[in-house]
Amino acid sequence: MRVLVVGSGAREHALCLALAADPTVTALICAPGNAGTAAVAEQRGVDALDPGAVAALATDVRADLVVVGPEAPLVAGVADAVRAAGVDCFGPSAAAARLEGSKAFAKEVMAAAGVPTARARVCADRADVAAALDAFGPPYVVKDDGLAAGKGVVVTTDRAEALAHAAACGRVVVEEYLDGPEVSVFCITDGTVIRPLLPAQDFKRIGDGDTGPNTGGMGAYAPLPWLPAGFVEEIVATVAEPTVREMTARGTPFAGLLYIGLAITSAGPRVVEFNARFGDPETQVVLALLDSPLGALLQAAATGGLAQHPPLRWRPGAAVTVVVAAAGYPGTPRLGDVLTGAEAAGVIHAGTRRRDDGAIVSAGGRVVSATATGADLAAARERAYELIAGIGLAGAQHRTDIALAAARAR
Ligand code: AMP
Ligand code: GLY
Repeated sequence: MRVLVVGSGAREHALCLALAADPTVTALICAPGNAGTAAVAEQRGVDALDPGAVAALATDVRADLVVVGPEAPLVAGVADAVRAAGVDCFGPSAAAARLEGSKAFAKEVMAAAGVPTARARVCADRADVAAALDAFGPPYVVKDDGLAAGKGVVVTTDRAEALAHAAACGRVVVEEYLDGPEVSVFCITDGTVIRPLLPAQDFKRIGDGDTGPNTGGMGAYAPLPWLPAGFVEEIVATVAEPTVREMTARGTPFAGLLYIGLAITSAGPRVVEFNARFGDPETQVVLALLDSPLGALLQAAATGGLAQHPPLRWRPGAAVTVVVAAAGYPGTPRLGDVLTGAEAAGVIHAGTRRRDDGAIVSAGGRVVSATATGADLAAARERAYELIAGIGLAGAQHRTDIALAAARAR
């Protein structure tokens, strides 16, 4: 099968690496890609946000399956256009991707489906926001209703900062603060059958010890040895199944990857967010441990065939990924710095490009993520940080505590 991966981040590089290892994948194309995907897939240029252009490319490269990585193309209707062109596509329709594209819509679906989540109010103006902040009390959680590349959420005890963020966003969701560790559960679904992947944990804040502003994610590990037995099955039954049923009942079935972001509170798991695609950087660790061929799995999900798909197999051990971010991130990142050591196995590329002189240079806020597996979290961590030590990038930032607490608890 010929597979076209759409996107240009670390998630897409990780997807390409896993797809390339699937013997049924005979050709792999990535568009627009980065310097890492170029080493494993044929590179094609495309405006990933242009549904017609992606559909035309899918036809042009004779793709049997298109895998749409990021949320923005999904929300723009890329999956709809690819399917309309007669090509199978892994990724939800624009109507179903609203689960990620609008936080207010996600809250409405969760309420209708009885999914446990933070109490929330959708606010259109300053008076609404002020009333909601006072109703829920600090710490304040203010979320941009629309897509914001991981930067739309402010969690703060400073009421003025919460009000200022709301003013900068337009329509916002103000919600109750959820306390407790976060877990990401990815569910592959064809709109009916749900197959969960291994749970992972992401590190959202820029600084060690969960300090500083939120980012798109600074590192991740899997699996989570501290979760109770049966946790994933419980989340499938209480979150994924009712949500998928509710989307079908609304006439907008969700097929693709339902990313369930959870906080494990003292009252039990609560949904923090839904995404409509693989998470980054969790994908790097989850796919590092997936032993089943990825192409066949995504094709089954894209074609309503998950019920016939064999059970997923996982490699033993653990995986850790540590993100290397550019100077300035998560504010405006400095771009164009030369990157060295980035061609080592396990270095997954995000914002990178190859310059005309052959050098790899930074081209985004998150630049690469160093990913390693090992017999346990401590071993995987050690290897990931060895990879980090081999990467050169002026002004680079990375966290030194990814998976540290979980590795020590063992
Ligand atoms: P989201 O984009 O909704 O995932 O939010 C980004 C991050 O903000 C989450 O991963 C959490 O760390 C934090 N966050 C979001 N919602 C809440 C909440 N209700 N309570 C506490 N932290 C939250
Ligand atoms: N890891 C957070 C996200 O993918 O949205």
